[in-house]
Amino acid sequence: MNNFTFYSPTYFAFGKDAENDAGKYVRRFGGTKVLIHYGGGSVVRSGLLGRVKASLEAEGLGYVELGGVKPNPRSGLVYEGIELCRREGVDFVLAVGGGSSIDSAKAIAAGTVYEGDFWDFYQGKPVVKALPIGTVLTIAAAGSEGSPDSVITYEDGMYKRGASGEALRPAFSILNPALTQTLPPYQTACGITDIMAHLYERYLTNTKEVEVTDRVIEALLKTMIHEGPRVIENPDNYEARANIMWAGMLAHNNCCGVGRSQDWTSHDVEHELSAIYDCAHGAGLAVVMPAVFTYVMKHDVMRFAQAAVRVWGCEMDFANPENTAKAGIEALRRFLISIGMPKNFAELGAKEEDIPTLAHNACYGDVRTGSLGGFVSLNEEDVANIYKLMV
Ligand code: NZQ
Ligand code: ZN
Repeated sequence: MNNFTFYSPTYFAFGKDAENDAGKYVRRFGGTKVLIHYGGGSVVRSGLLGRVKASLEAEGLGYVELGGVKPNPRSGLVYEGIELCRREGVDFVLAVGGGSSIDSAKAIAAGTVYEGDFWDFYQGKPVVKALPIGTVLTIAAAGSEGSPDSVITYEDGMYKRGASGEALRPAFSILNPALTQTLPPYQTACGITDIMAHLYERYLTNTKEVEVTDRVIEALLKTMIHEGPRVIENPDNYEARANIMWAGMLAHNNCCGVGRSQDWTSHDVEHELSAIYDCAHGAGLAVVMPAVFTYVMKHDVMRFAQAAVRVWGCEMDFANPENTAKAGIEALRRFLISIGMPKNFAELGAKEEDIPTLAHNACYGDVRTGSLGGFVSLNEEDVANIYKLMV
């Protein structure tokens, strides 16, 4: 196991009606004037936004609001939010929604207290200072409620890039599984896929002897395999929603990624797809993951065979472990299709003729320097070959 530091100071409030305490937590973590930041309207329609506002009012907190965050959030609204926060003297940013609203809130929180262009952070500058952030989560997926990351699409060039820094970890996150019951099945499935991807990105490691994190990842993947179909069949299953929601946080606050190298090829390859075609991140990952895993499998067949046996219950073929590794990837692919995810470029709305551009952007776009992948280092030709496997 490698040396590591791990600091995850987010205060989590989990369970039914927890959102009614949002005002209490904002006050506790130092906010006096709040920006409430949300998406395209689901939180208005569900009445959640009204309840959150009432809880701020009950604490005597002032607030301004900015809605309209799109899935795959854009830089334009971030600039607007930064301007609003400065003008109004906002000292706390509260995201009410999914990963997109949270990531946009994080970008605004960092940009408001930074003299330069907030996009610097998405070109590699670490975030060391930001306004405190709180979240009321409405979809189990991105894990942004506990992560030090934010992903934004820069509209000039449509580059989708991530920023990172401990200052981006939310001060508090409110996780009420009941809030996810209004999700359309497709979005629920996208979330399940993203959570599984966050686990696989960490599972694909070149670090030896990482049994504890291997086993935690396997347990979380098995939880998703168990709970995923239950929640697709019955969207009101609170207990299944609760397990998925907490798994989503554990999958991405990095408690199961410490002390080991990680991959992140699937995410880098996917982000080009959601940047250009505006598909849901999870849907993109469903198409990307089996292709990436098939392409890199030979680098460490036993790692894929281990996942196949321990996670997917495949039988070990001792004479030819590659068969087992392949069976595990096939089990993942079939599982994702069974919960309603797309299986190829066509179903995603992606175009074969764009492959050279996609591969080039993944390797050289914006600040990229020619290769990607922590498990296997892949160049532009490799990435193009991976995209071809998705057609
Ligand atoms: O915008 P509204 O109207 O709220 O609708 C949203 C949106 O259309 C809807 N939705 C959310 N909660 C709902 C609901 N509809 C009904 N009932 C509810 N309870 O679902 C749609 C998707 O929402 P979004 O916030 O985009 O989903 P998600 O949480 O999957 O976030 C995706 C973004 O997170 C990034 C992705 O790249 C993508 O841009 N990621 C962020 C990460 C991070 N910060 O650590 C890591 C991830 O790997 C990921 O890259
Ligand atoms: Zn993701």
